[in-house]
Amino acid sequence: MVRSTSFFAASHFPELTMPADILVTAPLPDFLYGPLKADFRCHDYFQTTDKAGLLRQVAGSIHGLVQGGGTVTPTSLLDALPALQIISVFGVGYDGVPVAYCKKRDIKVTNTPDVLTDDVADVAVALILMTGRGFVRLNRFVHAGDWLKRSPELTTRLGGKTVGILGLGRIGKAIAQRVTAMGMEVAYTGRNPQEGPYRFISDLKALAAASDFLVVACPGGPATRNLVDADVFAALGATGTIVNIARGSIIDESSMVKALQDGTIKAAGLDVFVDEPNIPAPLLEMKNVVLLPHVGSATHETRKAMGDLCKANLDAWFARKPLLTLIPELG
Ligand code: NDP
Ligand code: DGY
Repeated sequence: MVRSTSFFAASHFPELTMPADILVTAPLPDFLYGPLKADFRCHDYFQTTDKAGLLRQVAGSIHGLVQGGGTVTPTSLLDALPALQIISVFGVGYDGVPVAYCKKRDIKVTNTPDVLTDDVADVAVALILMTGRGFVRLNRFVHAGDWLKRSPELTTRLGGKTVGILGLGRIGKAIAQRVTAMGMEVAYTGRNPQEGPYRFISDLKALAAASDFLVVACPGGPATRNLVDADVFAALGATGTIVNIARGSIIDESSMVKALQDGTIKAAGLDVFVDEPNIPAPLLEMKNVVLLPHVGSATHETRKAMGDLCKANLDAWFARKPLLTLIPELG
């Protein structure tokens, strides 16, 4: 469900000559880029080999910017766009947006919450199943013809085990519902306890110690950088598995690799990494690690819904109508 904000365009923005000029800083799927090009003058900053030349031509007239959830927008680029009014993020995560800077310049920042929640939660559950029940290894076992030679390994029962969730937000709650239906226990941490059936553990290390699966589902950015560190892995322990569907930056990746190598933790299921698409080489070799290429929201249906919402926010803004979403820091 997407809420409509009561925010209207600030009156101090001058009238625009439509179509507005939009800078595109990420690769966009056709189902978003096509409609954007139909209604706006789009300038492809991501694709162009002459970024400085493009900015010399159009920077002064850019009123909107479209970026991906994982795109980092430096303040130096925003400095070069004096007329920018809105950044529409094609994704829910906006850790790549300099929010304090945008607040100061009254640049609106919109994102695509809710429409992707279920898909991302599905991926978290899949990573719990694939690591806990060994499904990736077992699939390889059958493909390799090994079933003809020996019995498959035994794995871990999930019912009764505890899933600790770092960040019980929209996605965290959807994960909690799913694993509860599987007979698993849920505990969580975050900055604040919440109403509801799940056990709040204020300290992340204590949550890790209580968890069989520690699932990272909070936003990335400076406030959460390397929150999951060597001490958290020590607390998670030799029977514990780390699952990350949020942002690579939240985990101290080298400590995680070491914890996996020396048996401090049992396994990892990862959809996101610090330097995507580059993945630390040791992870690629490990049998107790399941790796996905940042596909939390990567279904046709959800990406289309995200694209529609990303564009709808621009449509609303330039029609001087209420935005459909606005990040909480600017609300
Ligand atoms: P929400 O804002 O709904 O939830 C975030 C949760 O994190 C809240 O419960 C919040 O609780 C908690 N939180 C926020 N800051 C901190 C902090 N500093 N320390 C601990 N907990 C914190 O976001 P969503 O559930 O919609 O999305 C979560 C993240 O998932 C996104 O930001 C994005 O990065 C990632 N994502 C990844 C995808 C993928 O493809 N793998 C797809 C979509 C999203 P509280 O306020 O109590 O702290
Ligand atoms: C998001 O929506 O934040 C996903 O990570 C896709 O970028």
